[in-house]
Amino acid sequence: MYITGNYETIAFELKENIGYLTINREKKLNALNSQVLSELKTLLTHFIEEDKGQTIKGVIITGAGEKAFIAGADIAQMQNMSVEEARDFGALGQEVSLLFEKLPMPIIACVNGFALGGGCEMAMSCDFIYATESAVFGQPEVKLGLIPGFGGTQRLSKIVGRNRAKEIIYTGRNVKAEEALSIGLAIKLFPTKEEMIAGALKTFSYMLSNSPNAIKISKKVMNEGNDLTVTQGLTCELEQFAAVFSSEDMQEGTKAFIEKRAPNFTGN
Ligand code: HXC
Repeated sequence: MYITGNYETIAFELKENIGYLTINREKKLNALNSQVLSELKTLLTHFIEEDKGQTIKGVIITGAGEKAFIAGADIAQMQNMSVEEARDFGALGQEVSLLFEKLPMPIIACVNGFALGGGCEMAMSCDFIYATESAVFGQPEVKLGLIPGFGGTQRLSKIVGRNRAKEIIYTGRNVKAEEALSIGLAIKLFPTKEEMIAGALKTFSYMLSNSPNAIKISKKVMNEGNDLTVTQGLTCELEQFAAVFSSEDMQEGTKAFIEKRAPNFTGN
Protein backbone atom coordinates (compact mmCIF):
# COMPACT_ATOMS: atom_id res chain seq x y z
CA MET A 1 0.00 0.00 0.00
CA TYR A 2 2.64 2.51 1.07
CA ILE A 3 4.72 1.71 -2.02
CA THR A 4 2.20 3.10 -4.50
CA GLY A 5 0.84 5.33 -1.74
CA ASN A 6 -1.79 8.03 -1.50
CA TYR A 7 0.67 10.75 -0.80
CA GLU A 8 0.38 14.19 -2.39
CA THR A 9 3.61 15.83 -1.38
CA ILE A 10 5.99 12.89 -1.32
CA ALA A 11 6.47 9.90 -3.61
CA PHE A 12 7.86 6.48 -2.81
CA GLU A 13 8.90 3.69 -5.11
CA LEU A 14 10.57 0.38 -4.33
CA LYS A 15 12.89 -1.19 -6.93
CA GLU A 16 15.07 -4.20 -6.24
CA ASN A 17 14.86 -3.66 -2.48
CA ILE A 18 15.93 -0.01 -2.66
CA GLY A 19 13.37 2.65 -1.76
CA TYR A 20 13.31 5.92 -3.69
CA LEU A 21 11.76 8.65 -1.56
CA THR A 22 11.11 11.97 -3.30
CA ILE A 23 9.95 15.24 -1.79
CA ASN A 24 7.39 16.20 -4.38
CA ARG A 25 6.57 19.93 -4.28
CA GLU A 26 8.71 20.98 -7.19
CA LYS A 27 6.90 24.29 -7.80
CA LYS A 28 7.72 25.37 -4.24
CA LEU A 29 11.25 23.96 -4.45
CA ASN A 30 10.12 21.07 -2.23
CA ALA A 31 9.64 23.32 0.80
CA LEU A 32 8.51 21.43 3.88
CA ASN A 33 5.01 22.30 5.05
CA SER A 34 3.01 20.36 7.66
CA GLN A 35 1.57 18.06 5.01
CA VAL A 36 5.01 16.99 3.73
CA LEU A 37 6.17 16.39 7.30
CA SER A 38 3.02 14.41 8.22
CA GLU A 39 3.30 12.25 5.11
CA LEU A 40 6.99 11.64 5.84
CA LYS A 41 6.11 10.70 9.40
CA THR A 42 3.54 8.14 8.22
CA LEU A 43 5.87 6.58 5.66
CA LEU A 44 8.97 6.45 7.88
CA THR A 45 6.94 5.01 10.77
CA HIS A 46 5.77 2.29 8.41
CA PHE A 47 9.37 1.47 7.47
CA ILE A 48 10.30 1.19 11.15
CA GLU A 49 7.26 -0.64 12.52
CA GLU A 50 6.06 -2.73 9.57
CA ASP A 51 8.79 -3.30 7.02
CA LYS A 52 11.64 -3.42 9.58
CA GLY A 53 14.17 -3.68 6.75
CA GLN A 54 12.73 -6.95 5.44
CA THR A 55 11.96 -5.70 1.92
CA ILE A 56 13.47 -2.20 1.97
CA LYS A 57 17.24 -2.63 2.32
CA GLY A 58 18.20 0.99 1.72
CA VAL A 59 16.58 4.33 0.96
CA ILE A 60 17.61 7.18 -1.33
CA ILE A 61 15.96 10.54 -0.64
CA THR A 62 15.92 13.29 -3.27
CA GLY A 63 13.93 16.35 -4.18
CA ALA A 64 11.71 16.44 -7.28
CA GLY A 65 13.20 18.30 -10.23
CA GLU A 66 16.68 19.63 -10.84
CA LYS A 67 16.56 22.84 -8.84
CA ALA A 68 16.18 21.86 -5.21
CA PHE A 69 16.53 19.04 -2.74
CA ILE A 70 14.47 21.02 -0.21
CA ALA A 71 14.59 24.85 -0.07
CA GLY A 72 13.66 24.87 3.62
CA ALA A 73 10.61 24.82 5.81
CA ASP A 74 7.63 26.52 4.18
CA ILE A 75 8.09 30.21 4.90
CA ALA A 76 4.55 31.10 3.76
CA GLN A 77 3.08 28.63 6.25
CA MET A 78 5.38 29.76 9.07
CA GLN A 79 4.68 33.45 8.59
CA ASN A 80 1.40 33.47 10.51
CA MET A 81 2.12 30.81 13.11
CA SER A 82 1.54 31.48 16.80
CA VAL A 83 4.21 30.44 19.31
CA GLU A 84 2.21 27.27 20.04
CA GLU A 85 1.79 26.42 16.37
CA ALA A 86 5.49 27.04 15.79
CA ARG A 87 6.32 24.66 18.65
CA ASP A 88 4.10 21.95 17.12
CA PHE A 89 5.61 22.53 13.67
CA GLY A 90 9.17 22.38 15.02
CA ALA A 91 8.33 19.28 17.05
CA LEU A 92 6.91 17.53 13.97
CA GLY A 93 10.03 18.35 11.92
CA GLN A 94 12.30 17.18 14.71
CA GLU A 95 10.27 13.98 15.04
CA VAL A 96 10.72 13.31 11.32
CA SER A 97 14.47 13.96 11.64
CA LEU A 98 14.65 11.39 14.45
CA LEU A 99 12.68 8.88 12.37
CA PHE A 100 15.38 9.11 9.67
CA GLU A 101 17.91 8.21 12.35
CA LYS A 102 15.75 5.35 13.65
CA LEU A 103 15.25 3.71 10.24
CA PRO A 104 16.51 0.13 10.42
CA MET A 105 18.01 0.47 6.92
CA PRO A 106 20.59 3.03 5.72
CA ILE A 107 19.33 6.19 4.04
CA ILE A 108 21.46 8.33 1.73
CA ALA A 109 20.46 11.96 1.15
CA CYS A 110 21.07 12.72 -2.54
CA VAL A 111 21.17 16.50 -2.67
CA ASN A 112 20.48 18.16 -5.98
CA GLY A 113 20.34 21.99 -5.98
CA PHE A 114 19.28 23.84 -2.82
CA ALA A 115 19.36 22.20 0.60
CA LEU A 116 18.59 25.21 2.75
CA GLY A 117 17.31 25.52 6.31
CA GLY A 118 15.02 22.57 7.00
CA GLY A 119 16.36 20.95 3.81
CA CYS A 120 19.91 20.93 5.11
CA GLU A 121 18.57 19.71 8.45
CA MET A 122 16.72 16.76 6.91
CA ALA A 123 19.78 15.82 4.83
CA MET A 124 21.91 15.86 7.99
CA SER A 125 19.49 13.42 9.67
CA CYS A 126 20.22 10.83 7.01
CA ASP A 127 23.19 8.48 7.32
CA PHE A 128 25.29 10.53 4.94
CA ILE A 129 25.00 13.03 2.10
CA TYR A 130 25.91 12.75 -1.57
CA ALA A 131 25.53 15.92 -3.61
CA THR A 132 25.70 17.23 -7.14
CA GLU A 133 28.48 19.69 -7.97
CA SER A 134 25.87 22.43 -8.21
CA ALA A 135 24.31 21.73 -4.80
CA VAL A 136 24.00 24.61 -2.34
CA PHE A 137 23.69 24.05 1.40
CA GLY A 138 23.00 26.56 4.12
CA GLN A 139 21.11 27.51 7.26
CA PRO A 140 19.71 30.93 6.26
CA GLU A 141 17.14 31.11 9.09
CA VAL A 142 18.68 34.18 10.76
CA LYS A 143 18.00 36.14 7.56
CA LEU A 144 14.30 35.60 8.34
CA GLY A 145 14.56 36.30 12.06
CA LEU A 146 14.29 32.57 12.72
CA ILE A 147 16.71 29.98 14.02
CA PRO A 148 17.17 26.43 12.71
CA GLY A 149 14.38 24.35 14.23
CA PHE A 150 14.63 20.86 12.75
CA GLY A 151 17.94 20.02 14.44
CA GLY A 152 20.39 22.35 12.66
CA THR A 153 21.81 23.93 15.82
CA GLN A 154 22.71 20.46 17.06
CA ARG A 155 23.54 18.26 14.06
CA LEU A 156 25.55 20.81 12.04
CA SER A 157 27.92 21.25 15.01
CA LYS A 158 28.36 17.49 15.33
CA ILE A 159 29.16 17.14 11.64
CA VAL A 160 31.38 20.16 10.90
CA GLY A 161 32.44 21.28 14.39
CA ARG A 162 30.74 23.86 16.60
CA ASN A 163 32.66 26.97 15.58
CA ARG A 164 32.36 26.35 11.86
CA ALA A 165 28.64 25.66 12.41
CA LYS A 166 28.31 28.97 14.25
CA GLU A 167 29.88 30.84 11.34
CA ILE A 168 27.50 29.15 8.88
CA ILE A 169 24.41 29.75 11.04
CA TYR A 170 25.24 33.35 12.10
CA THR A 171 26.00 34.46 8.52
CA GLY A 172 23.24 32.38 6.91
CA ARG A 173 25.53 32.16 3.89
CA ASN A 174 25.41 29.61 1.11
CA VAL A 175 27.78 26.66 1.39
CA LYS A 176 28.56 25.44 -2.10
CA ALA A 177 29.10 21.77 -2.88
CA GLU A 178 32.93 21.92 -2.94
CA GLU A 179 33.02 23.53 0.49
CA ALA A 180 30.38 21.11 1.82
CA LEU A 181 32.66 18.29 0.68
CA SER A 182 35.74 19.84 2.26
CA ILE A 183 34.04 20.18 5.68
CA GLY A 184 32.46 16.72 5.62
CA LEU A 185 28.88 17.89 5.23
CA ALA A 186 28.64 16.10 1.88
CA ILE A 187 30.91 13.11 1.45
CA LYS A 188 30.90 12.68 -2.34
CA LEU A 189 30.10 14.93 -5.33
CA PHE A 190 28.72 13.96 -8.73
CA PRO A 191 28.34 15.96 -11.96
CA THR A 192 24.63 15.16 -12.40
CA LYS A 193 21.65 13.95 -10.40
CA GLU A 194 21.53 10.72 -12.46
CA GLU A 195 25.20 9.98 -11.72
CA MET A 196 24.59 10.71 -8.04
CA ILE A 197 21.70 8.20 -7.87
CA ALA A 198 23.87 5.66 -9.71
CA GLY A 199 26.64 6.35 -7.16
CA ALA A 200 24.25 5.79 -4.26
CA LEU A 201 23.07 2.53 -5.82
CA LYS A 202 26.66 1.40 -6.19
CA THR A 203 27.28 2.13 -2.51
CA PHE A 204 24.14 0.17 -1.61
CA SER A 205 25.35 -2.74 -3.76
CA TYR A 206 28.44 -2.99 -1.50
CA MET A 207 26.32 -2.72 1.62
CA LEU A 208 23.79 -5.32 0.47
CA SER A 209 26.42 -8.04 0.40
CA ASN A 210 26.97 -7.41 4.13
CA SER A 211 24.80 -8.43 7.06
CA PRO A 212 21.69 -6.21 7.18
CA ASN A 213 21.43 -6.95 10.89
CA ALA A 214 25.01 -5.82 11.55
CA ILE A 215 24.45 -2.61 9.54
CA LYS A 216 21.22 -1.93 11.45
CA ILE A 217 22.92 -2.41 14.82
CA SER A 218 25.98 -0.33 13.76
CA LYS A 219 23.63 2.51 12.80
CA LYS A 220 21.77 2.27 16.10
CA VAL A 221 24.93 2.29 18.20
CA MET A 222 26.53 5.13 16.21
CA ASN A 223 23.42 7.33 16.34
CA GLU A 224 22.81 6.65 20.02
CA GLY A 225 26.49 7.27 20.74
CA ASN A 226 26.10 10.77 19.33
CA ASP A 227 24.22 11.76 22.50
CA LEU A 228 26.54 9.95 24.93
CA THR A 229 30.00 10.32 26.43
CA VAL A 230 32.63 7.97 24.93
CA THR A 231 32.47 5.79 28.05
CA GLN A 232 28.68 5.50 27.87
CA GLY A 233 28.93 4.86 24.13
CA LEU A 234 31.41 2.05 24.71
CA THR A 235 28.95 0.42 27.14
CA CYS A 236 26.25 0.63 24.49
CA GLU A 237 28.66 -0.77 21.86
CA LEU A 238 29.69 -3.68 24.10
CA GLU A 239 26.08 -4.64 24.82
CA GLN A 240 25.20 -4.71 21.12
CA PHE A 241 28.51 -6.36 20.13
CA ALA A 242 27.67 -9.24 22.49
CA ALA A 243 24.02 -9.35 21.34
CA VAL A 244 24.93 -9.92 17.66
CA PHE A 245 26.50 -13.24 18.68
CA SER A 246 22.95 -14.61 18.97
CA SER A 247 22.08 -13.51 15.41
CA GLU A 248 21.76 -15.84 12.42
CA ASP A 249 23.83 -13.40 10.36
CA MET A 250 26.80 -13.67 12.74
CA GLN A 251 26.63 -17.47 12.66
CA GLU A 252 26.41 -17.44 8.87
CA GLY A 253 29.08 -14.77 8.29
CA THR A 254 31.73 -16.44 10.42
CA LYS A 255 30.83 -19.94 9.13
CA ALA A 256 31.05 -18.76 5.51
CA PHE A 257 34.50 -17.30 6.18
CA ILE A 258 35.76 -20.59 7.61
CA GLU A 259 34.19 -22.52 4.72
CA LYS A 260 35.76 -20.10 2.20
CA ARG A 261 32.42 -19.18 0.57
CA ALA A 262 30.25 -16.09 0.25
CA PRO A 263 27.80 -15.64 3.13
CA ASN A 264 24.07 -15.85 2.61
CA PHE A 265 22.67 -13.33 5.06
CA THR A 266 19.00 -13.23 6.07
CA GLY A 267 19.17 -10.07 8.16
CA ASN A 268 18.14 -11.97 11.30
C1 HXC B 1 8.09 28.50 0.85
C2 HXC B 1 9.40 28.62 -1.02
C3 HXC B 1 10.55 28.35 -0.25
C4 HXC B 1 10.39 28.13 1.14
C5 HXC B 1 11.14 28.61 -2.30
N1 HXC B 1 9.81 28.76 -2.27
N2 HXC B 1 11.62 28.37 -1.08
N3 HXC B 1 8.19 28.69 -0.47
N4 HXC B 1 9.15 28.23 1.65
N5 HXC B 1 11.40 27.84 1.95
C6 HXC B 1 8.92 29.07 -3.38
C7 HXC B 1 8.98 30.51 -3.83
O1 HXC B 1 8.18 31.33 -3.00
C8 HXC B 1 8.46 30.42 -5.22
O2 HXC B 1 7.03 30.32 -5.19
C9 HXC B 1 9.00 29.09 -5.71
O3 HXC B 1 9.30 28.34 -4.54
C10 HXC B 1 10.30 29.24 -6.50
O4 HXC B 1 11.21 29.97 -5.71
P1 HXC B 1 11.95 31.30 -6.22
O5 HXC B 1 12.34 32.07 -5.02
O6 HXC B 1 11.14 32.00 -7.25
O7 HXC B 1 13.25 30.66 -6.93
P2 HXC B 1 14.68 31.35 -7.11
O8 HXC B 1 14.54 32.79 -7.45
O9 HXC B 1 15.44 30.48 -8.04
O10 HXC B 1 15.36 31.29 -5.67
C11 HXC B 1 15.66 30.03 -5.08
C12 HXC B 1 15.98 30.23 -3.57
C13 HXC B 1 14.84 31.03 -2.92
C14 HXC B 1 17.29 30.99 -3.43
C15 HXC B 1 16.14 28.84 -2.94
O11 HXC B 1 13.60 30.39 -3.26
C16 HXC B 1 14.94 31.12 -1.43
O12 HXC B 1 15.73 31.89 -0.91
N6 HXC B 1 14.10 30.34 -0.73
C17 HXC B 1 14.05 30.36 0.72
C18 HXC B 1 15.24 29.68 1.30
C19 HXC B 1 15.23 29.73 2.83
O13 HXC B 1 15.29 30.81 3.43
N7 HXC B 1 15.09 28.55 3.48
C20 HXC B 1 15.03 28.45 4.91
C21 HXC B 1 13.62 28.59 5.36
S1 HXC B 1 13.50 28.61 7.12
P3 HXC B 1 6.09 31.17 -6.17
O14 HXC B 1 4.70 30.78 -5.78
O15 HXC B 1 6.44 32.60 -5.95
O16 HXC B 1 6.48 30.69 -7.55
C22 HXC B 1 13.64 27.02 7.60
C23 HXC B 1 13.45 26.78 9.07
C24 HXC B 1 13.54 25.30 9.43
O17 HXC B 1 13.87 26.14 6.84
C25 HXC B 1 13.10 25.06 10.84
C26 HXC B 1 11.63 25.27 11.05
C27 HXC B 1 11.15 24.90 12.45
